[in-house]
Amino acid sequence: MSETLEGERQPLPMKGVPQPTRKEVLKLPRVHISTHPVMQHKMTALRDKNTPPPAFYRLVKEIGALLAYEATAELRLEAEQIETPLQPMKGQRLAGGIGITPILRAGLGLAEGFREVISEAQVWHLGLRRDERTLQAEEYYNRLPRKVDLQVAYAVDPMLATGGSAIDAINMLKTRDIPHLSYVCILAAPYGLLRLTQTHPDIDIYVAALDESLNDLGYILPGLGDAGDRQFGTF
Ligand code: PRP
Ligand code: URA
Repeated sequence: MSETLEGERQPLPMKGVPQPTRKEVLKLPRVHISTHPVMQHKMTALRDKNTPPPAFYRLVKEIGALLAYEATAELRLEAEQIETPLQPMKGQRLAGGIGITPILRAGLGLAEGFREVISEAQVWHLGLRRDERTLQAEEYYNRLPRKVDLQVAYAVDPMLATGGSAIDAINMLKTRDIPHLSYVCILAAPYGLLRLTQTHPDIDIYVAALDESLNDLGYILPGLGDAGDRQFGTF
């Protein structure tokens, strides 16, 4: 236990829990870690504790758009005959719908960035709250449709810490019979990344940056703090 500023006893759920190193998870199959210089530039501003909520939210959206561009690189296309103002031609369109599942609250900014790239995507909100004492995710809102006809769905959440929220979200999406599932986050801790890949080895995972570890409270280090609070100004 540690003490908060108010003198309350606070549990340390990750204290003594063994964690893999960054190097041990760097080459996991189906994990894509961004190397784009513009991403690195935006990540530095995002992590900076002096970045205020409006700028932080804007950065989350911009990083979401960059991640969407990387995560959609393998989407299937189908041919479509069109006419330009000058002549007929054979074009290509995305084959089948796309779903985005923001994990509330922090996934909202990321989902908005995705929608800048794929405006026709459906958005299915999923509310998961991490209990800070146990680090277990609890569902409080679920708008996943019963019937879907998509080629891919992306679960999006800025933070992959212990992996509990991501694993639960993918479990729920797997009940919807979608051909391809991906998980997209801004920061991943090695511990959560390993758990997610071991539990769901059949999904693709897109990450803007892989960090070092979790602290005793389950926060990512060096991290960026609480992604929900920093987006919405709820400190
Ligand atoms: C944060 C974050 C993830 C989760 C990650 O959300 O956005 O959903 O914690 O932690 P995990 O990998 O250990 O499950 P939080 O539950 O704090 O809710 P919020 O988005 O409302 O801030
Ligand atoms: N959730 C956050 O918002 N930040 C962390 O570092 C871990 C979980």
